[in-house]
Amino acid sequence: MMNKTILLLLVWALCSCTEAQTRVSLPAPNAGKASKMTLMQALQNRHSVREYADKVIPDATLSTLLWAACGYNRPAEKRITAPSAMNVQDISVYVCRADGAYRYNPDEHALDRVSSKDLRASVASRQDFVKTAPVCLVLVSDLSKFRSPDAEMGALDAGYVSENICLACTALGLCTVPRATMDRETLTRELGLQSHHRLFINHPIGWPKK
Ligand SMILES: Cc1cc2nc3c(=O)[nH]c(=O)nc-3n(C[C@H](O)[C@H](O)[C@H](O)COP(=O)(O)O)c2cc1C
Repeated sequence: MMNKTILLLLVWALCSCTEAQTRVSLPAPNAGKASKMTLMQALQNRHSVREYADKVIPDATLSTLLWAACGYNRPAEKRITAPSAMNVQDISVYVCRADGAYRYNPDEHALDRVSSKDLRASVASRQDFVKTAPVCLVLVSDLSKFRSPDAEMGALDAGYVSENICLACTALGLCTVPRATMDRETLTRELGLQSHHRLFINHPIGWPKK
């Protein structure tokens, strides 16, 4: 009996350890206080930027940005900031940075690690400036969430999340450009995507170069 208890405790400790290594908790998003900019000012100021300062994006800022992209704004109903066709919530946001690649998990408001590799060169493809962005967000639709796999709906849903990212970046003092260019083959493999997943758009994100 004693041995069995010790064994169970060991298994539990091992599982918790693996979980801790693969999941990075994000600080709570700061939707109310992170920016004083109005929506109209963000619309006025939004523009594509293709060069970034050599400066990290703190997790607190990333947290608010990911929440704005597609986090829960009505947690009790599991509804998110971006609309989606039939509320299927097919868009996942992958975070690619120097220390690896992660899938944003809105349920836990955390990052689930999917690769230990720096995949920014694969996001960049032929546009080298992307490699200098501290963070790249990659928007992936899970087409299996639609009754019949519908790439058009997936593309539309990705567009809403992408615009949320553009406006949230502007409001937070960050800069970005939405991009369809990327090495889809490598990203599909390295992010562990399947045939029902579609890579639609990505966002290199950084601070403006003064
Ligand atoms: C669907 C889509 C795909 C895009 N793909 C790229 C791209 O691969 N590389 C790039 O540098 N910019 C890309 N852009 C950014 C556009 O070039 C940019 O939005 C456009 O020139 C207008 O400039 P603005 O965003 O400053 O208004 C893309 C934009 C959209 C909406």
